[in-house]
Amino acid sequence: MEKLVIKGGTPLKGSVTVSGAKNAAVAILPAALLIDGVCTIDNLPNISDVKLYVKIIESLGAKIEWKNEHEIVLDTRHIECTDETLDLTRKFRASYYLLGSLLGRSKVAKVGSPGGCNLGSRPIDLHIKGFEALGATVDVSNGNITATRDKLVGNSIYLDFASVGATINIMLASVLAEGTTTIDNAAKEPHIVDVANFLNTMGADIRGAGTDIIKIHGVEKLTGNKSYSVVPDQIETGTFMLAAVATKGDITIKNCISKHLESVTAKLLEIGANVESSGDEIRVWCDKRTSKANIKTLPYPGFPTDLQPQMGVVLAISDGTSIINESIWESRFQYTNELNKMGAKITAQGKSAVFEGVETLYGAPVYSTDLRAGAALLIAGCAAQGTTEIYNIEHIDRGYEKIEEKFRQLGSNIQRVEE
Ligand code: EPZ
Repeated sequence: MEKLVIKGGTPLKGSVTVSGAKNAAVAILPAALLIDGVCTIDNLPNISDVKLYVKIIESLGAKIEWKNEHEIVLDTRHIECTDETLDLTRKFRASYYLLGSLLGRSKVAKVGSPGGCNLGSRPIDLHIKGFEALGATVDVSNGNITATRDKLVGNSIYLDFASVGATINIMLASVLAEGTTTIDNAAKEPHIVDVANFLNTMGADIRGAGTDIIKIHGVEKLTGNKSYSVVPDQIETGTFMLAAVATKGDITIKNCISKHLESVTAKLLEIGANVESSGDEIRVWCDKRTSKANIKTLPYPGFPTDLQPQMGVVLAISDGTSIINESIWESRFQYTNELNKMGAKITAQGKSAVFEGVETLYGAPVYSTDLRAGAALLIAGCAAQGTTEIYNIEHIDRGYEKIEEKFRQLGSNIQRVEE
């Protein structure tokens, strides 16, 4: 096992280039299974979730050719659902997109019940409601989810919650269905727009992605024979924005889309940081102690839950008492126990946490409990006085490409070492 060792206290300065979006890539890769042809996907992030997905798709019959570490050619003309992939699919949550894409392509789709970050209960009732509305039968038993159908017919589906996963999964199942499907109260995250753009590039007919009503007109076939570049990662961009503020540094983030970070920019300006965007770059700098703020995480375009832990580090050392309300996940404050080991004064209760700002954090051995908690601890280690050791960093590697190299190029004294 490996750990990250960080000698903190140095402001992070310089520029960093953001990779392709993890949450778009782990949906676009299964979406490619809908193509009866060949396609090229570029700007894939070089992270373990992507590598795992490619392994699963290959075992379903796809022919894979890596052009380089970020670009892949997929031949998905011969796809066969198999039980071989069940164990692999249990390793992360995004494997449930195989249900939507295999259901759209064949009469049976089967995955292991999804794993993923421990954020509390992560039901998939809205996904199942969508598949059943299209005419599928879904069985959840023996740790597997099996969806079968004779044919899929378009329908109108209202989502009780603007679920990212359910929106994407229903979109995948609708692309080759007969007739038109309408998803009402759809999620609007940038990665949903990216999946819709990918599918439309390959021959689908999806309209309204990015709004709360998405219409999918079923087509006969996706021919592919095109290439597509994955959207820059909104969450990685926000992670570096918050790292700049927490370490009182000055970071220019390249290859990003500032519009995707409007909620984060607004909060950073509110607490006294500086943010400037131009073209595909965002510059964030801060040379004084930030002030307190209250945060409520919401579906896009609200403040993203996936940047809540990273924002928690900034509030932990801001001047005054701040409150975070986590409205998306039941249990996303586990990282606060780790920050308290570093001298923070945070009280978390259910879906809210109170941050009594302290002057500074102090290095300590801490444990990453999930992907974004790990990113938060990395930022905390850079901001803290002294040395921080972060364990369980496999969580971080799931979603951040070459994370210690990127932080090192910003001036962080960080090493990845064997435990
Ligand atoms: C996606 O998870 C992301 N994962 C998560 O990012 C992110 O936190 C989340 O969206 C919200 O933005 C991927 O894209 C792979 P949801 P997902 O369906 O799709 C409830 C990261 O760090 N819900 O929008 O699972 C659910 O319980 C990860 O990159 C139902 O009740 O999120 C939760 O309260 C962590 N029934 C809320 O909706 C359902 O059928 C949001 O879930 C589905 C969801």
